[in-house]
Amino acid sequence: MPTVLLLNGPNLNLLGSREPDIYGSTTLREIEELVTTELNESSIKCESFQANSDGEMIDWLHQNRDADFLLLNPGALTHTSVSLRDAVLGVGIPFLEIHLSNVHQREEFRHHSFFSDIAIGALVGLGVKGYLLAAQFAVDYIEQKGSASTS
Ligand code: DQA
Repeated sequence: MPTVLLLNGPNLNLLGSREPDIYGSTTLREIEELVTTELNESSIKCESFQANSDGEMIDWLHQNRDADFLLLNPGALTHTSVSLRDAVLGVGIPFLEIHLSNVHQREEFRHHSFFSDIAIGALVGLGVKGYLLAAQFAVDYIEQKGSASTS
């Protein structure tokens, strides 16, 4: 069964109570369930993980390097972490970058991402819907790859 990784970075474990005017009221658990359900409907497995440091995220990526696709919200590490970028490049899993908030409408330091130039694409400012749309994209991507390899 194909596998999609859902990886969330620092402070996203606080979703639901963290700055709800910016990030909404949905919890990370609820997001993980929504994404998992969406993927399972297409017979794709979802492995979810959240960590508050890039070291833990990097180790988890290394352990799951055989996965088919990655949905990544690096949180604040988006703007700072060369080592997480290198890990994503190192495992070579195709990925989408997701941000609940529109980082381009916010502080200047959030405008630069260490991931956007290596991602297939980015979903920014769409709230929880960004995760769902990203999951739907992953389904299409995996299905297209599967039909290409059997034709
Ligand atoms: C975020 C945006 C980041 O700038 C911020 O540090 C986060 C969340 C988002 O989902 O909007 O932690 O990635």
